[in-house]
Amino acid sequence: MGAPDAVTSTTAPAPGASTPHSTTTAPVTTTTTTTTTDAKPVSISRNGYQGFGSFFNEVSVQDMITVPRDAYVPPARPFAPPSLERAASLPFGEACRELFMIDFSRWTFINHGAFGGVCRPAHEEANLWREHCEAQPLKFLDRELFPQMVRVMREMADFMGADPADLVFVPNATTGLNVAIQAAGLRPGDTMYMLNIGYGSVKKMAQAASAAAAGLGAGSATAATAAAGTPTPTPHGEAPGGIHVVYGEVEFPISGPQAIVDLVAATLPAGTKLAVFDTVTSNTALLLPVAELTALCRSRGVQVLIDGAHALGQVALDLRAGVCGGRREDAQPQTQTQTQTQTQTQTQQGSAPAAAAADAGADAAAAVAAAAGSVAALGLAGNDAGAAHGAAEADAADAAKADANAGGSSSGSGSGSGSGSDLCVPDYFVTNCHKWLAAPRGTAVMWVRRDRQGAVRPLVVSHGSGAGFTSDFIWDGMRDYAPYLATSSALGLWAAMGPARVRGYMRDLLAQAVELCGGRWGTGLLAPSLDMCGSMALLGLPQDLAEGPEADSADAKYVQDMLHHVYAIEVPIKVIQGRLYVRLSAHIYNALSDYVRLADAVDDLVARERQARAAAAAAAAAAAAAAAAAAAAGAGEEAAPVKKKCGG
Ligand SMILES: Cc1ncc(COP(=O)(O)O)c(C=O)c1O
Repeated sequence: MGAPDAVTSTTAPAPGASTPHSTTTAPVTTTTTTTTTDAKPVSISRNGYQGFGSFFNEVSVQDMITVPRDAYVPPARPFAPPSLERAASLPFGEACRELFMIDFSRWTFINHGAFGGVCRPAHEEANLWREHCEAQPLKFLDRELFPQMVRVMREMADFMGADPADLVFVPNATTGLNVAIQAAGLRPGDTMYMLNIGYGSVKKMAQAASAAAAGLGAGSATAATAAAGTPTPTPHGEAPGGIHVVYGEVEFPISGPQAIVDLVAATLPAGTKLAVFDTVTSNTALLLPVAELTALCRSRGVQVLIDGAHALGQVALDLRAGVCGGRREDAQPQTQTQTQTQTQTQTQQGSAPAAAAADAGADAAAAVAAAAGSVAALGLAGNDAGAAHGAAEADAADAAKADANAGGSSSGSGSGSGSGSDLCVPDYFVTNCHKWLAAPRGTAVMWVRRDRQGAVRPLVVSHGSGAGFTSDFIWDGMRDYAPYLATSSALGLWAAMGPARVRGYMRDLLAQAVELCGGRWGTGLLAPSLDMCGSMALLGLPQDLAEGPEADSADAKYVQDMLHHVYAIEVPIKVIQGRLYVRLSAHIYNALSDYVRLADAVDDLVARERQARAAAAAAAAAAAAAAAAAAAAGAGEEAAPVKKKCGG
C-alpha cells in the first residue's frame, strides 16, 4: 500500500452539482487531488454521500440517467467484454448453436418462448462481473455498480427507442406487471379489463388487486378466491367489494387483428380504469394489434398496460412512438419494401450485414410507420395523432442515424412522453430480456410513460426510494446484479447481427416450419395467418394424438412428455377449444432440421397411438369374445343341471 503522493487541494463545486436534475444540493467543498495505490489520479472531496444511502457515487443516478446523449460518457467496463467478432460472422442456424449454452447434442430445442436461453457472450459477461465483484465487493457495489447500471439502461433505451429515464430494470415481467397494476390505483368498484387469452398469472394479479382493493390483507389471489367462493362466486375470482375483472372472450377461429379490436371495442366496459394486453400471447402465440388497442382504450380514458414479456427481440420496438408490437414488420406494404428485400437477401445469404446499425434504423422507422398506419386505420387518433406519428417516424430515423454515427452506444434524452395526442403510447410496458433477447435469466425492463411515473412504487423499498423513478428501482437490496450488467453483451450481439435481420431469419424459418409440419400432418395455424405471428406460432397436431374426440390437458401433457422423454424434443403442446396444437418457436440457433425431427416424431407418435389403439381394440374385442364364450359356456353349465334335473 503506497502512501498518496502529489496531494493538492482546491475549492470547487462537488461533481454533479451543475447537472440540471440534481436531486441533492452539492455544497462547494474542498477537493484533494492525489493518486491511488495503483498510481491513477483521483479527486477526493468532503462533500458527503450523494443522496443514496451510503453509496460512494458522486453523481446521483437520476443525474446520470438524464445526462443528454451527446454529453454522456459511458464508464468503461473493468475487463475486456466477450468478443462478438466471430458471432457477427456466423450464418444463422446450426452454426449459431455455439453462441448458446443449450445442450444441442442431446436436445432438439424448439421452445425458446418458454424461458428463453441465454447467449454465451452474455453468460460469460455475467460471470466476469461476478468475479470482478468478488475481487473487491465494496469497490464494485459502492462505487462502480450504479454508473455501470446506468450505462446498460441507456444502451437498452437505445434498443427500445425509449428515453433512458423512462425505463428501469426489474427481475422479470411478473415483477413489472405487479408494479404497473398496483400503480394504476384501482379502487373498490373499478374495472380491470383483459382478454381471456391473457397470461395466467396476470389473471391472478387481477384477483389480488381485487382483494387488495377490498381490504383483504396482502392482496393475495387466494384471499380473493376464498372470498369470492362465499357466499356468491364472482365470475373471475374477484373479491366481493373489490375491483371488477372483465374478460374480452376471444373465440377461435378469428379473422384477423381487427376482430380483436372490434371485440375490445364492444366489450370494454364504460369507465374501465386499466386494460392489459399482450404484445404476443403466451398460450396462443398471437401478435396482438397493441397500437390500435392502446389507442382505443386511451381514447376512452382507460390506462393501458402492455404485457410485452415476449416483445423484446421478437418484435421491433420504438416506445417513444408507441411501437411495442402490433403488425408484423414484413406485413407492411410501402415503407417496408426496402427493409424486406434487404432482410430476405441477408437471410438467404445467412451472413452478417456490413452495417447493423443502419439495419436497426430502417427497422425502427418501418415499425413506427406501421404503428402510425395502424392507428390511422382505426380512425381514432385523428389528425393530431397522424401528425405526432409522422414526427415520431422522423425522430426514429434521426435517432437511428445518431445511433449509427455513435456506434449504437449513445443515449437520447428523448421526447417527453404523455403528450396527449400520442394515443397509441401505452401507460406501462413490461418486457423480458431473458426471453427472445437471450440475456441472462432474471432480467426484464419496465417502461412507464413520464406522466405516470409519479404513481409507480417498487414492490421492494430500499435506499433509493423517493428520489425519482430510476433511483426507486435501481437497488432493491443486496443481490446479484451481474445479469442486468451482462444484458449489454446480449444487446451487443443483436447489434452485431442486425435486429431486423435476426427477426427476418426467425420469421422465415417459422414460415418454413409451419409449411413443413402442417403439410405432413394436414393441419393449419390457430392464427388466421402468419401475419399475426412473430417468431412463435400454434400449429394443429393430428387429432389422433387425443384420446377422445375433444382433446384435454391430459392429452397435451402426454404428448409433451412423450416428445421430451422419448424423442428428446423440447416443445410445448397446447389445447385450444378441444384441439391439440404445438407451439413452434424459431430462434437463430434453430434450423429446418429441428422441425423435420419434430414432424418425424409426431408421425411416429401417431403411428404408435394408432397401433396401441388397434391393439387395445383387438384386446378388448378378444376379451369381449372370451367373455361371451365364457358366458355361453356358463349358460351351458347352468342349463346342464336343469337338463339333468329335467332328465333326472
Ligand atoms: C405473456 C406473458 N406474460 C408474462 C410472463 C411472465 O414472465 P416471467 O416469468 O419472466 O416473469 C410470461 C412468461 O412466459 C408471458 O408469456
